[in-house]
This record gives sequence, structure tokens and C-alpha cells, in this order.
Amino acid sequence: MWQLLSPTALLLLVSVCTQAADPSKSVVILDPPWDRLLEKDSVTLKCQGAYPPGNDSTQWWQNGTLISNQASSYSITDATVGDSGDYTCKTVLSAVSDPVRLEVHMGWLLLQAVRWVVQEGEPIRLRCHTWKNTPIQKVQYFQDGIGKKFAHKNFDFYIPNATSEHSGSYFCRGIVKNYNESSEAVRVTVQGPGSIIPSFFPPWHQIVFCLVMGLLFAVDTGLYFSVLRDLRSSKEDWRNDKVTWSRGPQDK
Ligand SMILES: *[C@@H]1O[C@H](CO)[C@@H](O)[C@H](O)[C@H]1NC(C)=O
Ligand SMILES: *[C@@H]1O[C@H](CO)[C@@H](O)[C@H](O)[C@H]1NC(C)=O
Ligand SMILES: *[C@@H]1O[C@H](CO)[C@@H](O)[C@H](O)[C@H]1NC(C)=O
Ligand SMILES: *[C@@H]1O[C@H](CO)[C@@H](O)[C@H](O)[C@H]1NC(C)=O
Repeated sequence: MWQLLSPTALLLLVSVCTQAADPSKSVVILDPPWDRLLEKDSVTLKCQGAYPPGNDSTQWWQNGTLISNQASSYSITDATVGDSGDYTCKTVLSAVSDPVRLEVHMGWLLLQAVRWVVQEGEPIRLRCHTWKNTPIQKVQYFQDGIGKKFAHKNFDFYIPNATSEHSGSYFCRGIVKNYNESSEAVRVTVQGPGSIIPSFFPPWHQIVFCLVMGLLFAVDTGLYFSVLRDLRSSKEDWRNDKVTWSRGPQDK
């Protein structure tokens, strides 16, 4: 009994505590993954989360205002600046997601990346996107105003192994329709090994709560089984007619 129940209790505790630390939130996924767009670009926002069988009904908010779309994905075609904003979603069975910020810009050139904050050792990939994918020549990327890679045709600027020296303000430049165009600069941050990405770690009060609950649970379970053992042995003693009374202080 003890051997069977203690792993079960432990599993229960672990599942309760991992849930407390990470309540099943919905997640907004961008497809394609760019969070900065030019006008006329398209993007599909997908809501990941738990859905009941046969019901993919989903709530979507832009800047905190409920929008009419109730499908699990929300497609923006021919984006306009007004599509910019913070998007959140919620499936029937999951909590409201963290916001995803979408920026729609006007212009010829736009720097894009899947992530603007990376850990040291992770790759950085920058993309020099043109309006309606217009051809571009003589493309160059800049970090903090200093020219980096150059090519005659468009290309992605790829850093396989980011270090703190790669943190900085980046833009790209090139010739579009005979005009010398530059994108706006965007900040890329490379975090050192000491820094923590907050969303991956539960807040301290939840860890303390789970530790205390775990301790209480362990003590409680221990008590339960020791009482059970005592009861069982006293029952045996009774059956064997060997009841013994411990002498209390008042008997002295
Ligand atoms: C899906 O679930 C939501 C919330 O419980 C409910 O309002 C809606 O009517 C359901 N839709 C379908 C198609 O069952
Ligand atoms: C949402 O907020 C952003 C700025 O945070 C703004 O640019 C955009 O126009 C807003 N969109 C709507 C529909 O309110
Ligand atoms: C990344 O660079 C660091 C420091 O130069 C090195 O120790 C590490 O092995 C590199 N990692 C990869 C995957 O290349
Ligand atoms: C684009 O303009 C910059 C100055 O704004 C200049 O230094 C650069 O050479 C020009 N690029 C080309 C390809 O003409």
C-alpha cells in the first residue's frame, strides 16, 4: 500500500505544482514568424491552447479590445498600420495568452527577425524585407552604424553563435528601384548566461508555495501511514489478546 501510494502522491504533487507554476495559458503564434511587417504583408495569428473536442471557439483581443474573429486562427492579409498592436487570445480551456506585439510599418525596407532577444550561443538571423518583395540590390547590414556583411543580391544576415558583442542596433540598406533605401534600426539584445528569461521560470512565491505544500503533504502522508500502522498493530494485539496499556503519569 505504502509502496503504491507514495509514487502516486509524488506524481500528484509534481503535476499540481508544475500546473501552479505554469497555468495552461494560450499562446499566440505568428505564421510567418515576423512581428514587424510592411503594409500589404500577410500574417496568420494562431492560438495554441487546450480546446474541448469539436469546439475551436477562440477569443481574440487587439489592444485589449475583443475582435469579432472566433476561429482558432486570425488571418491578416494586406496589413495596414491599423493592424498594429498587442494581440492576445484565449481558447475555451486555456487562460488568456501573453500579448504578442505586431508592428505594421510603411516604407520600402524593414528589418525582420524571429526574436530580438537571444541568449549567448544562440543564433541571430536578420532579414532585409522589401515592400511587396520588390527586388533589391547591393544589400548591406549595419550594426551600430558600422557596415557588416554586403552582397549584390538580398540575403539573410546570420550569426550562428551570438555573443554580447552582437548586441546593438541593426539596420539594412540597399538599392530598390534605383533608390538608395535604408530600414529603420532595431535593437538586438544578447543576454549573458547569468540572465534569466522570466517567462520560463515561475515566480518565487509559487516555488515557495509548492515547497511548503510538498512538505506538508509529505508530513501528512507520513502521519497517515504511521497512524494506519499503529491501528493495524493494535488491532492485531487486540486479536491476540495482548492489549498493553502504557502507564501515564497519573498512574504513578
Ligand atoms: C464552445 O464553447 C463555448 C464556451 O464554453 C461556447 O460558448 C460555445 O457555444 C461552444 N461552441 C460550440 C460550437 O459548441
Ligand atoms: C493598438 O496600439 C498600437 C500601439 O501600441 C497602435 O499603433 C495601434 O494603432 C492600435 N490599434 C488599434 C486598433 O487601436
Ligand atoms: C560559441 O562561442 C563560445 C565562445 O566563443 C564557444 O565556447 C562555444 O563553443 C560556441 N558554441 C557553438 C555552438 O559554436
Ligand atoms: C547609399 O547612401 C549612403 C549614404 O546615405 C552611401 O554611403 C552609400 O554608398 C549609398 N549606397 C549605394 C549603393 O549607392
